[in-house]
Amino acid sequence: MPLLRAIKCNIISPRIPFHLYNRNYCHSGAGEPFVPFDVLVNQRRNEARRSLLVEVAGLPSSTDLHQVCSQYGAVRKMFHYTTRHSNVNKEMILVEFDEAESLEKALQATRSPPTERIIPVHSPFVWLSASRTASSNRKKTNISSTTDIIQETVPSNEELQLQLSQSRDLSEQIQKSYECQKLTELGSRLRFFTCRQVEVALSGLFPQACVLPFGSSVNSFGRINCDLDMILELFDVTNQDTTQRLVFQAKKSRSAANPRITMQRHMEVISDILDNFVPGCSQVRKILAARVPIIKYRQDLTDMECDLSMANRSGFYMSEMLYLYGSMDKRVRPLVFAIRKWAKDRHVTSPYAGRWVTNFSLTLLVLFYLMRTSPPVIPPLQMLIKLAGDDDVRTAESINCTFLRDLKILTASDNKQSLEDLLRGFYEFYDKFDFKERGLSVVRGDDFVKPEHNALYIQNPLERELNVSRNVTLEELERLRSEITHARYRLEEDTEHIEEQQGQQPWGLLSLWGASHKPQAHRGLNASIDWQEVFHIQEQETPPTPDKQLNVSPVHA
Ligand code: GTP
Ligand code: MG
Repeated sequence: MPLLRAIKCNIISPRIPFHLYNRNYCHSGAGEPFVPFDVLVNQRRNEARRSLLVEVAGLPSSTDLHQVCSQYGAVRKMFHYTTRHSNVNKEMILVEFDEAESLEKALQATRSPPTERIIPVHSPFVWLSASRTASSNRKKTNISSTTDIIQETVPSNEELQLQLSQSRDLSEQIQKSYECQKLTELGSRLRFFTCRQVEVALSGLFPQACVLPFGSSVNSFGRINCDLDMILELFDVTNQDTTQRLVFQAKKSRSAANPRITMQRHMEVISDILDNFVPGCSQVRKILAARVPIIKYRQDLTDMECDLSMANRSGFYMSEMLYLYGSMDKRVRPLVFAIRKWAKDRHVTSPYAGRWVTNFSLTLLVLFYLMRTSPPVIPPLQMLIKLAGDDDVRTAESINCTFLRDLKILTASDNKQSLEDLLRGFYEFYDKFDFKERGLSVVRGDDFVKPEHNALYIQNPLERELNVSRNVTLEELERLRSEITHARYRLEEDTEHIEEQQGQQPWGLLSLWGASHKPQAHRGLNASIDWQEVFHIQEQETPPTPDKQLNVSPVHA
């Protein structure tokens, strides 16, 4: 007998925090439960494996949908959202079952549409067809309400501005701006679900296919509507079980001697599959000549821009590193958000790749600054590398991605500066920074003489001989610097006139986002720091083994 439970419509739930719920992992500096990255990713992937995305006629159909889905197993959660495509609104419901088997049963029961134009593809994206019997069935069944349908409310720009203008001070503005703009529960679920769709679509030919999100979707610096960066692996790189006697046969690749060409060919095929067969995928473009070849597309049904790459697991570990830094101290994420938003509004960054600073480089600039405050807010990466245990060892594409993953052994920073102080400090620090002569390393938490004549030199934390901001031209760096100088003065002016300004004209973040351009010159630079001294590490808990003290390479100085 199928479990029949009705749903209450239009119950608006508050935004569910992105962080999940395991209180065992609590790092004192973060002020909120710490969830290891692997745990978070596995939990989200499991949710996606139990989820179905259904296009419905409207919110009232959610009752029918719940009834239909309940035939296959218990429904745990339902999220409603509207997406707009080709000027038409689509009403979508993401259904999470209790068990993955229920989803399988539902998909097996999915019928083909009565037209040859639509190819039934193995995909967890379906639609609910109208049924003449559904409403009469519903009347006959006396259904009790047990599952809420969740609709997330995201403040509009105007609401955000109002909230910020009514804040007590700049610190409160920074915190509110973060709370209002960070990726939501549904946003996070849909990103993992969009990865799952590709995995499922390819699973017939590639049973071990694994698609993982990386970048701002998982590094905890993602805004609502951020793009989705994905890595596709056709085989399970983590399965090293050599005891098995049965091994996959391989088809000899025509260009085996050149792995890059092989990968480009595979990506050609995959982009054609996405373009021709996978529901919701539109505007599929191949950018295969890039350093990291990607397939770009739009997923219309989850409403996101997607970048799919292969052989790029180091990007995933890079995101894990950023996630860890975001988890170390509760001020890191709000500050990064404020600075990324400022850079976006001031056109220092752009959604398009080019000769300007990317969000990734900008985030490293913020982390570097937080390593240089006095006392530092966060430790340099080399300390996390030294503290890594056996479980932390990772290698991807021959790049060593080993660093401490469990933050429990770190103590909280002694730095007690407010968000306001840190934001001001960021602009002051980079207003004085000697970009012309010096590069930055978050590995050592120190600057160094630039080894090359790139305008901006930010050492790649994992491939240390590379500069992640190599693309930035002198002209764009100058623009960044003048915006920094201007932001600094704008905040100083705010301090002088705060009482007159509050309530009357934009102040704090609002004045930064809308401020005009006033370039200024830059000056000197900072002293170095004893990291071991500053962060008192409980080394006895996880003694670093000699072979883990790796690759803390002195940077090109
Ligand atoms: P937004 O998409 O702008 O919100 O931020 P993002 O952090 O996702 O940045 P982006 O989409 O540009 O890049 C995705 C991820 O790719 C980053 O988080 C990094 O992990 C990685 N990445 C970006 N740029 C570089 C680079 O220059 N070098 C390396 N090694 N990795 C990069
Ligand atoms: Mg991205």
